[in-house]
This record gives sequence, structure tokens and C-alpha cells, in this order.
Amino acid sequence: MDNLNGRVAVITGAASGIGLAMAHRFAAEGMKLVLSDVEAPALEMAMAGLPAGTEAVSTVCDVSKAEQVEALREFALSSFGSVHLVCNNAGVGGGGPMTELNLTDWEWVIGVNLWGVIHGVRSFLPLLAEQGEGHIVNTASVAGLFAAPFMGAYNVSKYGVVALSETLFNELAMAHPNVGVSVLCPSWVKTNIASSTRNHPDGEPADAGAIAEAIETFISRGIDPADVADKVAEAVKVGRFWILTHEDTPAAVAQRMTAILEDGTPPMLMH
Ligand SMILES: NC(=O)c1ccc[n+]([C@@H]2O[C@H](COP(=O)([O-])OP(=O)(O)OC[C@H]3O[C@@H](n4cnc5c(N)ncnc54)[C@H](O)[C@@H]3O)[C@@H](O)[C@H]2O)c1
Repeated sequence: MDNLNGRVAVITGAASGIGLAMAHRFAAEGMKLVLSDVEAPALEMAMAGLPAGTEAVSTVCDVSKAEQVEALREFALSSFGSVHLVCNNAGVGGGGPMTELNLTDWEWVIGVNLWGVIHGVRSFLPLLAEQGEGHIVNTASVAGLFAAPFMGAYNVSKYGVVALSETLFNELAMAHPNVGVSVLCPSWVKTNIASSTRNHPDGEPADAGAIAEAIETFISRGIDPADVADKVAEAVKVGRFWILTHEDTPAAVAQRMTAILEDGTPPMLMH
């Protein structure tokens, strides 16, 4: 999709961080926007902060609920008549050793990060396939390419997003060559993800612990979400599948692959 002007983009998790940066980048391209997020007040603020003249609508949507993502598709269609770009971006962090992750932690992280993308693909793919044109961007992470300790549920969810996207790429290439897919795999980005537990079903823990603190420090030193959004827009235009954002990612991936090929053990990679 080399010209984004006038096309319709749907973004989940659009009220903050990478999703919000994508909204601004796509607005600069002249796209019409459908912004969605689970947090209504933040979504309102995001809408108010868009550049003047942006054609945009918004609706609250919890991506872990299939029926809400289907309603998002219907909302987008009733607002603009079509959808061209779908960014399955909503996600939550959740750190901790596997000895301590409880069932709610697992279900929450997998529900938002993996089921959210599955629901997005199930809801929008038939539309794009039928229309014979469109692009899907699934937000994974470098955590979908190698598995750092203390991020078990997150890593599992992101490996799933990468696997789904790789599978979809070849299915589309065979059956719907004008529908594209990209998978976004950033390392640390300066967003609000370190406070994801604001949306945890059990509420925010009183003491987030040393791992959460360390993650917060890494995030605060991360790259600007606007730089990530630039890479996403470019990837959609040229049809690039892998969207890597950090220079050290290929070397880390190579280390993991070498361990597999040489019968080694998983390398200790901390992003
Ligand atoms: N920040 C990083 O370092 C980093 C690195 C790699 C990947 N990512 C991924 O980028 C994506 C965006 O995260 P971010 O870093 O911008 O964080 P963020 O917290 O700033 O933004 C995430 C948004 O998703 C929303 N959200 C949370 N649960 C939701 C749900 N159930 N349904 C709909 N929306 C929901 C939040 O309200 C928030 O507005 C996530 O998928 C995350 O895993 C982030």
C-alpha cells in the first residue's frame, strides 16, 4: 500500500505509547483513523491531541474480547465505509519469575497480547481479503524473537504473535497477494507499558518488586515511539514483513539461532 492518503487505519491500544505515535504518523499521511483502547479517558485525550483537520473516530474496545473486536470492525465500517490498515497493537507487560506468575497473570497477558491479535485478524482479515487490498501490522516484540528470563507470559504471547504473522504471510502470498502483513518487533520503547498493571484484573500490586523496577528503568531509556511509528509507516508502504527497531536485535536473534543449530542452550539475552 504505497499511498496511505485517504485510506482508513484501525489502531488498537491507540491511547498511549506506540499506538498513539502510529495515530499521529498516519494522520500526517492523510489517513482516516479509527482509534480504540480499553481506557476511555486516555482515548478521549488521544483524540483531543490529534492534529487539527484529522478525520478520526474512536471507540472503547477490550481486545481480549472477541465480540468487542467484531464491534470495532462494524464501528469502523459504519464510520468510514472501509478499512485498509489494521494495527493489532494493544498489549500489556507483566514480569516475574514463573514460580510466582499466577493463573490470572497468564490469562491476562495471553488474553490481551495474543488473543487480542487473533481476534483482530479473525475480525478484519475476511474484509481485507474480500476487498483484495489492505495491510495488517501485528505488534509483537523482540520478546517474540528470543526469550529473556522473568517475562514468561509476555514471551509466550509474543512468540505466538510472530508465529501467527509468519503463517499469515505465506497464506496471503498464496491466496491474497494484495493483502500484506508485517510484524513489529521493538526492543525497549519509552511508553507507559511499565505501568500496564493499571489494567490488570486484580488491580495494581502495592509493591511491583525489583523486576518491575528494572523494566521501568529499561523503558525510560528506550527509543521514542515516534521513531517506531516511522518504521511502521515505511514498512506498510514498501510491504516489509519484519519491522525491527533496534540495531542490536539481529545479533541477538543470530545468537539464539546459533544455539539451536549447534545444539546449545538458550542464551541469556536481556533485550
Ligand atoms: N514499550 C516497549 O518497550 C515495547 C517493546 C516491544 C513491544 N511493545 C508492544 O507495543 C505495544 C504497545 O505498547 P506500549 O509500549 O505503547 O504501551 P502503552 O501502555 O503505552 O500502550 C498500550 C495501550 O494498550 C492499551 N490496552 C491495554 N490493555 C488493553 C486491552 N485489553 N484492550 C485494548 N487496549 C488495551 C492501554 O490502555 C494502552 O493505551 C504492546 O503490544 C507492547 O507489548 C512495547
